[in-house]
Amino acid sequence: MTGHRYLIVGGGLAGLSAAMRLAELGADMDLFSVVPVKRSHSVCAQGGINGAVNAKGEGDSPDLHFYDTVKGGDFLADQPFCKDMCYAAPGIIYLMDRMGVPFNRTPEGHLDFRRFGGTLYNRTAFSGSTTGQQLLYALDEQVRRYEVAGRVKKYENWEFLSAIIDSKGICCGIVAVNLATMEVRAFEGAAVILATGGPGLVFGRTTNSMINTGSAASMVYQQGAKYANGEFIQIHPTAIPGTDKLRLISESARGEGGRIWVPKKKGDSRPPETIPEEDRWYFLEERYPRYGNLVPRDVASREIYDVCINLGLGLDGKAMVYLDLTHKPAQELDRKLGGILEIYEKFVGEDPRKTPMRIFPAVHYSMGGLWVGFEKTPDGLLDRRSPRNHMTNIPGLYAIGEVDCQYHGANRLGANSLLSCIFAGLVVAPAVIQFHKSVQGDFSAAAENERKRMADRLERIREMNGKENPYRLHGELGEWMEKNVTIVRENPQLQETQMKLDALQERWKDCSVLDNSTWNNQPVLFLHQLWNMLELAKIIVKGALRRDECRGSHFKKQFEIKQPDNVDSPEYREYLKLWKANHDQWCKTTIATYTPSGPEITYEKVDHSLIEPHPRRYD
Ligand code: FUM
Repeated sequence: MTGHRYLIVGGGLAGLSAAMRLAELGADMDLFSVVPVKRSHSVCAQGGINGAVNAKGEGDSPDLHFYDTVKGGDFLADQPFCKDMCYAAPGIIYLMDRMGVPFNRTPEGHLDFRRFGGTLYNRTAFSGSTTGQQLLYALDEQVRRYEVAGRVKKYENWEFLSAIIDSKGICCGIVAVNLATMEVRAFEGAAVILATGGPGLVFGRTTNSMINTGSAASMVYQQGAKYANGEFIQIHPTAIPGTDKLRLISESARGEGGRIWVPKKKGDSRPPETIPEEDRWYFLEERYPRYGNLVPRDVASREIYDVCINLGLGLDGKAMVYLDLTHKPAQELDRKLGGILEIYEKFVGEDPRKTPMRIFPAVHYSMGGLWVGFEKTPDGLLDRRSPRNHMTNIPGLYAIGEVDCQYHGANRLGANSLLSCIFAGLVVAPAVIQFHKSVQGDFSAAAENERKRMADRLERIREMNGKENPYRLHGELGEWMEKNVTIVRENPQLQETQMKLDALQERWKDCSVLDNSTWNNQPVLFLHQLWNMLELAKIIVKGALRRDECRGSHFKKQFEIKQPDNVDSPEYREYLKLWKANHDQWCKTTIATYTPSGPEITYEKVDHSLIEPHPRRYD
């Protein structure tokens, strides 16, 4: 028993992993979730979890996993953190296996592993294509055991509103609202762990669950927490285009041999099954002979964009390409890709075993998030003696999972998300207990003021009676962000988007709440979230506007330094000089600090102490 109560906000993989570990260490806690925890967004990470077990004798190792992670992130990640995660990965997979996760197995009964993007190794353990769901259910079961034992108290259908921060700047609790009764209550916590996921809904239609507003991260940012690398937003190359949302077709489809192609001739409208091989353009295989269809997500998304938008070769002139699995035996597809095949059939009405899927890239994940980390020495190295593991710059406030900024740099490797969520949960638990031994906040003095501030805020929103419809405003936000701040970015459009965001915030003040009931009032909370989404959008856009380069998911054509093919040529030596100058200027973590007139942007050195950065290539 630690004798103290901790607060975890978010019941996805990161939150449940932290809860399980804290309980094992003898701590008691309250766990908050806007939805029943089994409905958390982690279920949407379908394809698998990385760990270099070298099950297929390919010579894989945690060091190679670490290298692929750092290179995949275009050298923007603090390396010691990534190394720790990659070394822990095989153990995490075995742990989840022992908890009963139904991983696919080889005919000999061993865990099976498949390829994923950004690596040449079979390194991804999987449960069909519902891996996130299976992992989540396993952790949920573990946490339920501690719930029955009285160690964990769950507050499902409660939403985080703000952190309670005492006069010394220490976080010692949260204010949350009951989504049914609208009661606003203060909760005391020896430390607070945010595991609230990413800000996908800032982009409107995405692969994300409808709960990923980023509102919690935005609130603590407005309370003084730093937000890092906001401009790095992952675009997943393969999603089903839709008018309501964009549904993920997991990278496991490419991992199991899915081939991406378009007809070579513009306007070729023959059914795909009747188009002969010689009339198909497998552009990823041609442009990247080594990695083929398994280039990392940022590269694949840009190539699909190029083929559809710049070359006009999208299917029927539209922004879509084929993702083709029809050459694979249907039985094998059912065994390995169960989950996504059904999603495609259900939402498109075609059988992907017989007809190639039509897909296009979609916003999927945020590499950026709340700044967490160790203190750094002046030369940018992590000071590993510091106990600030996953702590934000607000003492006592921690962030784990997609809401934090660690592990992925400028682009995340597919199947590192489930890993980073579980890993972060496991390491944050001892860190918060250690922290609380030396620092204690003053809850009683700060709690009521903060509770009242939040209750008043919701009450003011409940009385809003203007002309604007908040859902329409959100639609406009999504359209602008999707159009101007995704695969290809340009400064004039980013500037216009900045002005649009200011205008949307002004219009927010003239919104109608649409419903002023005092019970289960969703528009009140939506308006609260919408303001917070606008604040996050400002971070993303300003960070993108400032960063005049191409790195991972952030691509500005105007600043592209083209890599010559021949690495032995004089042109390549010239290129290396330009690359180095750009690297020195821009390989820095972007830090956003809240001010009422918009985010203030500064930069922090990245810890490159383990792998020498170099130009990234996959051909
Ligand atoms: O494509 C996928 O299965 C998604 C996995 C991830 O984002 O890691």
